Amino acid sequence: MTSKHSGMRALVTGASSGIGEAMARRLAADGVALVITARRGDALEALATTLRTTVAVDVVAADLGKPGAAAEVWRAARAGGPINVLINNAGFGYFRRFDAADADTARDQELLTLNVGSLVELCKYFVNDTEPSGQRRHILNIASIAAYQSVPRMALYAASKAMVRNFSEALHDELRGSATAVTCVCPGGTKTAFHAAAGAGDYGKIANASMMSADAVAQIALAAMWKGKRTVIPGVINKLSCFGVRLVPRFLASLTASWVLGQPRAGTLPTRALPPGGDR
Ligand SMILES: NC(=O)c1ccc[n+]([C@@H]2O[C@H](COP(=O)([O-])OP(=O)(O)OC[C@H]3O[C@@H](n4cnc5c(N)ncnc54)[C@H](OP(=O)(O)O)[C@@H]3O)[C@@H](O)[C@H]2O)c1
Repeated sequence: MTSKHSGMRALVTGASSGIGEAMARRLAADGVALVITARRGDALEALATTLRTTVAVDVVAADLGKPGAAAEVWRAARAGGPINVLINNAGFGYFRRFDAADADTARDQELLTLNVGSLVELCKYFVNDTEPSGQRRHILNIASIAAYQSVPRMALYAASKAMVRNFSEALHDELRGSATAVTCVCPGGTKTAFHAAAGAGDYGKIANASMMSADAVAQIALAAMWKGKRTVIPGVINKLSCFGVRLVPRFLASLTASWVLGQPRAGTLPTRALPPGGDR
């Protein structure tokens, strides 16, 4: 079966679970060939085996939380052919005070490298690519509704997503009229492994009521990307909350975000390291 996107090839980061996996599945169903990357090679291989019945899928296992990894991923992905679509989805957060003993400097650095550094680097390789295929090109960067205000106890994560949003929107404006469209998606709470990994999840009623499935977020994000939209916020409650923060003083928006999220889960944060063999 051919679709209007057949013949394109997408690099999807963080495709081993959650929103990234859902986007990879949807892209494959649309006939888009894939390069999927994350740390867990076994999870990527399992997904690739399923999707290869439909499209060509290359797997690149890499830790984009480490400096230098983005260049390696780009080289490996590009070696297999042109990349027409770049989806910067890999990311993590943690729900703790900045001075919490179990949220150390190494975790901060990994967050900045993954959520910000590698994303920017991959965008740079993509826009500087000297062999464009002549087709329309797309960047889809995953931010969060956390980009719309500061979030106490998720300070660094929210700041990283504010950077992703501002960077993506500026890039969209810079590249307007060119072959490359840049779209930023700002999901609210989405049912994925993100929350357990972040030491979060004991959320208040509003946060729980607005939770969406990874597939619903993927569908909305990809539809916006194909249309070349600048920014999309999936879900009515999420849209209202991002609009609402414009109407109140910034400190109040920050306090409200903290109240909506509730308390971090008790106990130490889950480790960032993967066990031998890769799978959790
Ligand atoms: N879930 C939410 O409520 C929510 C809300 C707003 C925004 N988001 C954003 O959505 C994106 C996807 O998250 P998700 O909700 O789908 O969570 P998820 O299921 O935990 O997926 C995160 C993905 O990122 C990958 N990843 C994590 N650390 C990595 C590293 N160091 N190097 C390479 N890949 C890494 C993970 O794979 P490996 O573990 O195999 O490396 C996984 O594929 C993130 O950017 C997140 O900030 C999520």
